[in-house]
Amino acid sequence: MALRLGDEAPDFTAVTTEGEINFHQWLGNGWGILFSHPKDYTPVCTTELGAVAKMKADFDKRNCKVVAISVDPIQSHEGWVCDINETQNTTMNFPIIADPDRKVATLYDMIHPNADDTFTVRSVFIVGPDKKIKLTLTYPASTGRNFLELLRVIDSLQLTAKHKVATPANWENGQDCIISPAVKDAEVPALFPKGSRTIKPYLRYTPQPNR
Ligand code: BEZ
Repeated sequence: MALRLGDEAPDFTAVTTEGEINFHQWLGNGWGILFSHPKDYTPVCTTELGAVAKMKADFDKRNCKVVAISVDPIQSHEGWVCDINETQNTTMNFPIIADPDRKVATLYDMIHPNADDTFTVRSVFIVGPDKKIKLTLTYPASTGRNFLELLRVIDSLQLTAKHKVATPANWENGQDCIISPAVKDAEVPALFPKGSRTIKPYLRYTPQPNR
């Protein structure tokens, strides 16, 4: 069955380019992103892995580990990493899971037979410190993902986990937030000492509480 938001992220042990990992243990108490690639030695995937390697410090800053997966075997991944480093002018700095028996791909429902019955689609799972799934995304093989969007989502998830706010359309870290509808007007001054403005009774803004 497909995984849904709030479900526990299935645990697994797998061989990666950085040795064997147990997923939950490897995540520790932090956040994590697991993202799938249709196949090794493919152009879009190559650019995606290079892009994430260059952004690794941004994920680290957010206490978020990143791990990629492709159904090809580890020997294939090892050769591909050399190509990624060469063509993307980077050094791979996070693990790629080898999943030739499709164990992890099946656990996470990453193979969508009506798109391709062998290779994974471009799935993304963001996992919280409680090991629960906080975001799922599914892109087709032909569309490379926007990893800046994933950083933006992590900022929103981390903010809304601690404060009674939500983030509006196209919100970026530092911009005003929406006061959660569950917050009563009478509670607003104490919860949001930076102030608030009410556009409609259900649409109230406050400066970002954690900045
Ligand atoms: C790619 O990563 O470039 C790719 C993979 C599978 C199908 C199409 C493109």
